[in-house]
Amino acid sequence: MTAANRILNPALRAKLMSAEQAATFIVDGDHVGMSGFTGSGSPKKVPLALAKRIDAAHQAGQHFRISVLTGASTSSELDGALARANAMDMRLPYQSDPHCRQRINAGEMDYIDVHLSHVAQYVWFGFFGKLNVAVVEVAGVLEDGRLIPSTSIGNNKTWLDQADKVILEVNSWQPEGLEGMHDVYYGTERPPHRKPIPLVHPNDRIGTPYLHVDLNKVVAVVATHDPDKATAFTPPDDKSRAIAGHILDFLQHEVTQGRLPPELLPLQSGVGNIANAVLAGLNEGPFENLTAYTEVLQDGMLEMLKSGKLASASSAALALSPAALAEFTADLDYWRQRVVLRPQEISNHPELIRRLGIIAMNGMIEADIYGNVNSTHVMGSSIMNGIGGSGDFARNAYLSIFMAPSTAKGGAISTIVPMVSHVDHTEHDVQVIVTDQGLADLRGLSPRKRAELIIERCVHPSFRDLLRDYYERARRGAPGQHTPHLLDESLSWHSRFVKTGHM
Ligand code: COA
Repeated sequence: MTAANRILNPALRAKLMSAEQAATFIVDGDHVGMSGFTGSGSPKKVPLALAKRIDAAHQAGQHFRISVLTGASTSSELDGALARANAMDMRLPYQSDPHCRQRINAGEMDYIDVHLSHVAQYVWFGFFGKLNVAVVEVAGVLEDGRLIPSTSIGNNKTWLDQADKVILEVNSWQPEGLEGMHDVYYGTERPPHRKPIPLVHPNDRIGTPYLHVDLNKVVAVVATHDPDKATAFTPPDDKSRAIAGHILDFLQHEVTQGRLPPELLPLQSGVGNIANAVLAGLNEGPFENLTAYTEVLQDGMLEMLKSGKLASASSAALALSPAALAEFTADLDYWRQRVVLRPQEISNHPELIRRLGIIAMNGMIEADIYGNVNSTHVMGSSIMNGIGGSGDFARNAYLSIFMAPSTAKGGAISTIVPMVSHVDHTEHDVQVIVTDQGLADLRGLSPRKRAELIIERCVHPSFRDLLRDYYERARRGAPGQHTPHLLDESLSWHSRFVKTGHM
């Protein structure tokens, strides 16, 4: 079925136009909310047409820059194209595009790195100013104008509610069988009128499968037939397998201690290759009848759903490799029984994460000897991607686990350092640190005991003596002995790397 045939509402069908025409509704200074979360569900044509238009305006010496809000990272057709055209004045909340990163780190573009669960409500409250335009990909439009969401929901409900003007991309590449997979909850109120969110199991459905839009606000509908930009994962290597092994042993230990049930608690697994490797480890591990309450559904989770290890998964988006995506779209009736896609204000909601008792497993750039974690910055000043949902989950989870290989850049960098060069998750929110070397369970430990354990368990042998030496001198020379630090030296590992290329 063509995209035009998927627009059953006559009023919206009458607004069909080209992406170039639709892009003219966006003007200099606009705040634009776009769909997209990982490579899934972002608009495919309007951002490209807009980037072209802005580029032409710049060539003609005109000022034309916009602020772009999304669900999370998007594709090269959105973040990449707009960053290359230097079209973005401000971007939030999470990105992972190389051109975008380059603009941010060159100081040419503002980036506001907020928790994913906060974005929708900050827009409702007006913290970011007025949302002028929404550009949202959908899989189809029903006769009464309700919208069938595509492969991610992200903040689309909020963009459609809050924007003055709405541009829809109806993508016939997205399978029609997506209908019914989503659960869009319309019950969140602003304080002081908030009520409990009635979700008590990870796969509960508490809303409707459709997005709503005021048809009078829709200024353009664009028909597309373009694939999501799925990226392949690197297969697990020795390091990621070692990390997975430590986590599995730890979870087994927690079951034996009676602190976790045999089917564990709902899993959240972050982005990246290591997170995916941990899921591969769980798929071969002893646990059965698991559930997931997470924000991205990666290949590893799909495998677990297939094998039956995972009974159900709730997510805000798919983040599948091309092969896994093909498998997913081939049998949507099967997956619809097991997968729920939700708005990120629900997938990442602190109330729900605390109630469900999530086991949160996220990647990190570095941790320090006291358990503070940096997920976002390289050498203190350059952004890598952003905090994403890691803070939503880490702060509120039943168990908060952070993981990384013990070294980066071919062994030149230790991922365990005296003091992190940027803090995303404080020692108060981090319970477990894991590297390929081992796992440190920090629960119930004072700062000094945490330092001793992290140095013993997690540090690569080529940095262990150096770090132990730092800590022992801090034990003798620091003015305070609660969290002993040598202030002249605590960031010297980073400055040494910047000067010499090695920590
Ligand atoms: N210093 C400098 N660079 C480092 C580093 C360190 N301490 N640790 C890792 N890196 C670099 C790696 O070399 C790699 O660089 P490359 O892309 O140039 O090869 C890159 O960071 C990614 O590291 P990798 O080891 O491949 O891990 P990953 O794919 O698991 O990603 C994070 C790790 C931290 C970047 C990623 O998990 C992230 O963005 N997290 C924040 C968001 C989040 O946690 N969301 C959770 C909910 S989805």
